[in-house]
Amino acid sequence: MKIQIINGPNLNLLGVREPGIYGKSSFESYLPGLQARYPEVQLHYYQSNIEGELIDKMQEVGFSFDGIVLNAGAYTHTSIALLDCIRSLPCPVVEVHISNVHGREEFRHRSLISAGCKGVIAGFGLDSYRLAVEAILNGVSEP
Ligand code: DQA
Repeated sequence: MKIQIINGPNLNLLGVREPGIYGKSSFESYLPGLQARYPEVQLHYYQSNIEGELIDKMQEVGFSFDGIVLNAGAYTHTSIALLDCIRSLPCPVVEVHISNVHGREEFRHRSLISAGCKGVIAGFGLDSYRLAVEAILNGVSEP
């Protein structure tokens, strides 16, 4: 079982960036605990601030991995290119947000990528990633 976690722009600054919203932990310090929790799963991690690099990574893994956990950051609200990419892939993509985007500014309420995703998890802090992994393991790939 292989699952790819992908973080988009500014998520390399987790722990430093607006800690009141995104928490005090970096993703690098959160990830080992998540990997230890699922020893049967190869949990890969990738982060980029660049839209095209997120697409390259999804195209690279999306035909062979069992699922993608995607926090596209602000590209969530702007990127038709990410939506088209998600729709091109056979593997399920779960959209994740650390914060509850629906309780924040109105421009965060709209996601351009949700329509291509199997589901959306938002608002549970870094635990949102675990919930997304659970969703993939629970057979989110089934129609
Ligand atoms: C985010 C929410 C987005 O609106 C924001 O642009 C982010 C992070 C989240 O994880 O809560 O960068 O995706």
